[in-house]
Amino acid sequence: MLLKGKVVVVTGGAGLLGQSFCRAIGREGGVTVIADISREAGTKAAETLHGEGLAADFVELDITRQESVQRLIAEVLAHHGRIDAVVNNAYPRNRNYGRKLEEVQFEDFCENVSLHLGGYFLVAQQFAAHFVKAGGGNIVNMSSIYGVMAPRFEVYEGSPMTMPIEYAAIKSAVVHLTKYFAQYYKKAGLRCNALSPGGIEDGQPSQFLENYNRHAGSKGMLRATDICGALVFLLSASSEAINGQNLVVDDGFSL
Ligand SMILES: NC(=O)c1ccc[n+]([C@@H]2O[C@H](COP(=O)([O-])OP(=O)(O)OC[C@H]3O[C@@H](n4cnc5c(N)ncnc54)[C@H](O)[C@@H]3O)[C@@H](O)[C@H]2O)c1
Repeated sequence: MLLKGKVVVVTGGAGLLGQSFCRAIGREGGVTVIADISREAGTKAAETLHGEGLAADFVELDITRQESVQRLIAEVLAHHGRIDAVVNNAYPRNRNYGRKLEEVQFEDFCENVSLHLGGYFLVAQQFAAHFVKAGGGNIVNMSSIYGVMAPRFEVYEGSPMTMPIEYAAIKSAVVHLTKYFAQYYKKAGLRCNALSPGGIEDGQPSQFLENYNRHAGSKGMLRATDICGALVFLLSASSEAINGQNLVVDDGFSL
């Protein structure tokens, strides 16, 4: 029960990692707020957790709109009276996201950086303002191994997948945004860390998995549940002396 009584908002809480995170927070005694742009997926995720006897609410959120983030904070405070932490975990992208470098249009590059990195900034800025007033808080920003290492393009050979250039720009910036917030607010009882997973299993083509696993350790490509221990640690008092850091969880892929 590392998170007993803690109220934790997870943006993108209805997604692949988000749902696993919310379950892990609930199992550690925390109350999760699934904050997601998809009402349908978010409501379903909350119902699933209730079915498992875990505490979870759904609040609709668009991380790219200030009034939406402010409404979320107000709703959580009205319902629970406190917010202990936010996990910046949503994954917005436009319909042209995921193209090869040569095919990326300037407008798409800017829009994707703006939605994802801009949205993470907005969530961190708005929650930090509340945490300063409340006397403390905790922000965990989701980055990725591709925020700290150059892509291994060979793992995508034989599959239509690639590692988008926008993702490298966004995720490396998320690591530094994390350090900026940590430094700026370190006297305010607010800490801010990043969590950088390797690739997560999600029905990818077998050729890709085989290529990827050549670089991984004994576990190979990780599952969403493999990242939860690190998230719970960053949200818990066990990590209270850790601030402005980036925790890589990738079974050695980035070594
Ligand atoms: N899946 C991976 O392999 C992997 C690896 C490393 C890091 N990450 C990072 O983890 C985080 C979660 O990734 P995922 O794979 O679970 O993503 P996902 O696509 O499965 O889920 C993302 C969620 O974000 C929601 N969302 C999209 N736009 C939104 C917006 N504007 N406002 C609020 N919610 C919005 C979606 O509805 C969805 O539920 C992302 O930051 C991602 O970059 C993922």
